[in-house]
Amino acid sequence: MIFKALAEENPAAEPQEDRGSSSGRSWGQMVTAGVGGTLLALYAVVIPFVTPALRKVCLPFVPATSTQIQNVLKMLENRSGSLVDIGSGDGRIVIAAAKKGFKAVGCELNPWLVWYSRYRAWRDGVHQNTKFYISDLWKVSFSCYTNVVVFGVPQMMPQLERKLEEELEYNARIIACRFPFPSWIPDHTAGEGTDTVWVYDLKHSRACKTKSLEITPEMKS
Ligand SMILES: C[S@@+](CC[C@H](N)C(=O)[O-])C[C@H]1O[C@@H](n2cnc3c(N)ncnc32)[C@H](O)[C@@H]1O
Repeated sequence: MIFKALAEENPAAEPQEDRGSSSGRSWGQMVTAGVGGTLLALYAVVIPFVTPALRKVCLPFVPATSTQIQNVLKMLENRSGSLVDIGSGDGRIVIAAAKKGFKAVGCELNPWLVWYSRYRAWRDGVHQNTKFYISDLWKVSFSCYTNVVVFGVPQMMPQLERKLEEELEYNARIIACRFPFPSWIPDHTAGEGTDTVWVYDLKHSRACKTKSLEITPEMKS
C-alpha cells in the first residue's frame, strides 16, 4: 500500500529491486559492447595476417634479418634510381634503401603493415624518399623500377620470374632473398644459408635466353 501510494505520488520512486535490475542490465550491455568491440578489433588486426596463408600462394609475413638486409644493401652498391620491395612487410628493406639514397617503394597487401611502415619511415626521417602502397603484387606493374627486391616463397618464383621478365627494362637488377628464381642464372650472390641473396641483371638473363634460343635450332639439326 505504501509503495503503491509513493509510486502514484512520485513515478520516479521505483521499488529497489527494479532499480537494481536495470543498473545490472546496463552493466551487462556495457560488458557485452566492450567484449564485442575488442573481438571485432582483434579480428580486424588478425585477418590481414592470416589471409595470406589461405591464398593459392601462401606468402606470410617473415621479416628480413639484419644480415639479409646488409647483403641486399651490398648488392645495391653502385646502383641508383628507383627501388621496389615486393611484399614489403614492415618496410625495413625500403627504409634501409632510402637511407642509402634510393627513392624506395613498398608494395604490400596487409594494410596494418603498410601503415606501420609509413610510421617507421616518418620516425626514421626518410618519409620523403619512401612510399608504401596497399597493393597486390600480382595486380600491379613493376615496369618503372630499376631495382627490385623480393623475399618470396619457392611456389611463387616461377610466376614472378615470368612477370618481371615481361615488365622490367633491360637495365633492371633483381635481388631475391632466401629463395632464388628457377630459370635465371644469378650474376652474383651474397651471404649464406637463410641470409643468402641472389642478384640478377636482367640484361644478362635476357642475353643468356637469346643465346640459348639461337643455339637450340642448330643443336637440333
Ligand atoms: C616474407 S615477407 C617479406 C617482408 C619484407 N620484404 C622483408 O624482407 O622484411 C612477405 C610479405 O609479402 C606480403 N604479401 C603476401 N601476399 C602478397 C601479395 N599478393 N601482394 C603484396 N604483398 C603480399 C606479406 O604480407 C608479407 O609481408
